[in-house]
Amino acid sequence: MCGIVGIALEMGEAAPILVEGLKRLEYRGYDSAGVAIVGERGVSVVKGVGTVDDLERRFGVSALSGGTGIGHTRWATHGGVTDVNAHPHTDCSDRVAVVHNGVIDNFAELRRALEGRGHVLRSDTDTEVIPHLVEEGLSSGLAPIQALARAVSMLEGSYAIAAVVSGRREIVVARRGSPLVLGIGEGGNMCASDVAAMLHFTNRYIPLEDGEVAEITPERVRIWTVGPRGEMTPVEREPREVDWTASMADKGPYDHFMLKEIYEQPSAIERTLSQAEVYSDRAVDLLLSTIDSGGRVVFAAAGTSYHASLVGKYLLARLAGIQAESYVASEFEDWAIPHLREGDLVFAISQSGETADVLIATRAARKLGARVLAMVNVPGSTLAREADEVLYMGAGPEVGVAATKTYTSQVAMLTHLTARLALRLGRGGNRAGEIADWLPEIPKIVEARLEEMDRLSKRYVGEVVSHHSVFFLGRGVNLATSLEGALKLKEISYIHAEGFPGGEYKHGPLALISRDTPAVAILPREERLRRLMVGNIMEVRARGAKVIVVKADGGEAPAEMEFPAAPEGLPEELTPIPFIVPLQLLAYRAAVALGRDPDKPRNLAKSVTVI
Ligand code: M6R
Repeated sequence: MCGIVGIALEMGEAAPILVEGLKRLEYRGYDSAGVAIVGERGVSVVKGVGTVDDLERRFGVSALSGGTGIGHTRWATHGGVTDVNAHPHTDCSDRVAVVHNGVIDNFAELRRALEGRGHVLRSDTDTEVIPHLVEEGLSSGLAPIQALARAVSMLEGSYAIAAVVSGRREIVVARRGSPLVLGIGEGGNMCASDVAAMLHFTNRYIPLEDGEVAEITPERVRIWTVGPRGEMTPVEREPREVDWTASMADKGPYDHFMLKEIYEQPSAIERTLSQAEVYSDRAVDLLLSTIDSGGRVVFAAAGTSYHASLVGKYLLARLAGIQAESYVASEFEDWAIPHLREGDLVFAISQSGETADVLIATRAARKLGARVLAMVNVPGSTLAREADEVLYMGAGPEVGVAATKTYTSQVAMLTHLTARLALRLGRGGNRAGEIADWLPEIPKIVEARLEEMDRLSKRYVGEVVSHHSVFFLGRGVNLATSLEGALKLKEISYIHAEGFPGGEYKHGPLALISRDTPAVAILPREERLRRLMVGNIMEVRARGAKVIVVKADGGEAPAEMEFPAAPEGLPEELTPIPFIVPLQLLAYRAAVALGRDPDKPRNLAKSVTVI
């Protein structure tokens, strides 16, 4: 995963801007961090295990002097989490410094060859071969950009690379398979793994494409494609603008980004619904043309986005009478690709638009002649650029590793889309119209109950953190809510949590239930499902477990604790949005109570760009 940032300034110091950018990239990995600054006495590198704050405390990074620099925040792949393995890596003479995101598959052969030619490599990383390859290019008289182009022509695998060279004002960068955007500013230019890391400097960006290199000087940015032997062909590309602001990516008065992002949900959903007005007609056209020509709709997504796809699949069937399929992206090649046909539509959902499993799935699908409809949050992301049609969620930057506001935005967008599709198809009767009418009320419903849900989650959290396992029961559309609630709890509190269909309990999981395994039950609104869930709650309580119920007002269920998260009368199809909010808060409060950092859960990174 890893985050990369770089800046070349006409005047002033690069280090404080790099540190700010790195803080915004920490969601991509946070086991070590480092920067390299080109100063009057060559390239200064500081790096080490820990967060960007740790780096600042250890080395006073912001005080390093020089107008050109690069920075990195690491999620270890090759080589343990040590100071030596932290990036940047340098060449034999410490004149070239490189940061890298991705995996170099042929690093072992390259390393052997370099060592055979007398190079001394100091780390266990795959990355370290790159500065030495650049060093060789420079020694043979190439300019830094040519040396990098030649170096990348020897690399196999995935990479976003940024390099600086002693005595030079430019940063040279390359991309294949890992994200990198160029930032066009006043008095300088940048590069970063995503646009959010540059917002404190500029909101104008140019996405770099796979197989390209670029030279970033304080005055301009130049791009080339690279041929098999490092030959370079210039590329012209106009900058784009993102309507995100730096303050959208700040923590503000909140203790953690996750809490801020939970509280932002009413405004994020509102923005999503206005985005939906802009983008959904074309997406609906694409869905209609797929169905008309006998194609199928197949979702591909990972983690939280996969849970949103389950809601989408449910709504497509329920409202529009369309039987879609949904696959976890990492299983797509094995389960979906064998029967995918030309004319099918892959509906890819990804907050980041950079999840490797999703990109692999959509690329394989396109090779078979399927079209791709993408729902993404991050502008300029790879998935957005590669898809036939894009639905931008408009939730704003999400920094916490746990997806919160982007989940409710995804579900809001899917609800809008399916209701509109049903109305265009003349299906779904009054139901689709009723849902379309209720949807604009959802931000107000969430807003009105947020404080109360938080107060209750603080009250109930003791029951959760005093046990090692929590089970989540869902039915119907809120099966997705149970899976998502469990994912939130386990990923940030490290308490074992599982989501199940309520009816599936008796087929095995009930064996685990005891007074030590509290359960969270999502109470359906429909009477048939409600009764079934009440039966499940009784079975769990009969084994001594306490139950927390998430419900709409007026919903009756025998439970020790309850979150009244939605008003009576809200259609069942719309409950996934307000019902997940207390579970996000419960997970957040559990992580805080246990002393975990909810924004940086161990072993995880927000954007999973490796397979
Ligand atoms: O960026 P994406 O939506 O493709 O990310 C997918 C998952 O990696 C992501 O949802 C992950 O499961 C989150 N940590 C969940 O909170």
